[in-house]
Amino acid sequence: MTNGTLTSRPVEDADIPILCGFPASLDELSFMFPNAAFPLTAEVLRNAITEREDSTVVCIDDAVAGFANFYGCATGESCSIGNVIVDPAQRGKGVARFLIGTMINIAAEKHRAKRVKLVCFNSNVGGLLLYTKLGFKPYAIEGRVDPQGARVAIIRMALSIDGKTADPGFAEGKSGN
Ligand SMILES: CC(C)(COP(=O)(O)OP(=O)(O)OC[C@H]1O[C@@H](n2cnc3c(N)ncnc32)[C@H](O)[C@@H]1OP(=O)(O)O)[C@@H](O)C(=O)NCCC(=O)NCCS
Repeated sequence: MTNGTLTSRPVEDADIPILCGFPASLDELSFMFPNAAFPLTAEVLRNAITEREDSTVVCIDDAVAGFANFYGCATGESCSIGNVIVDPAQRGKGVARFLIGTMINIAAEKHRAKRVKLVCFNSNVGGLLLYTKLGFKPYAIEGRVDPQGARVAIIRMALSIDGKTADPGFAEGKSGN
């Protein structure tokens, strides 16, 4: 856990250059943003923020440390979490757990979602273990071809929330949802 205070807020334009520096490699960028060219540019991220919903940053004290948003929100049904990234210097401190808890709360309160969904690549061990720890369950595996022509798998995962926010212990790692 981080020693600083974790908070969340909607993304601001001034955050964009900072966020573009978070994917540390093409692999990490492809986990966050499939098919984007490395390094991530402000224009590409700004377009995603415009097209998607609820782009949110998590800060440690006042420093931006993580980012995510939604695509495919259907009111009363589901929201899909995407573009998840945490500052490499701040990993392993509970930032992603807090970020996903924040997105679950937005899905429940704003969109009255019954399910929160996401997609993770087979090679993204950190992502797969993160979402499993937070209670997401895999429900489908599909083949894809990556930009280098290699065959990969995407794992579709979902968490049933039934319109309920993450419980207070979620962000602190005391329980799942
Ligand atoms: C995956 C990622 C978001 C995790 O962020 P993080 O802030 O370090 O994660 P947290 O500290 O909140 O970890 C919460 C739990 O997730 C799991 N986890 C997170 N990263 C992990 C890793 N690299 N290896 C194994 N488990 C990991 C652990 O179970 C951890 O709980 P624990 O510390 O009690 O064991 C971050 O590594 C990242 O930005 N990766 C590149 C982009 C990416 O993969 N995005 C997700 C796309 S689906």
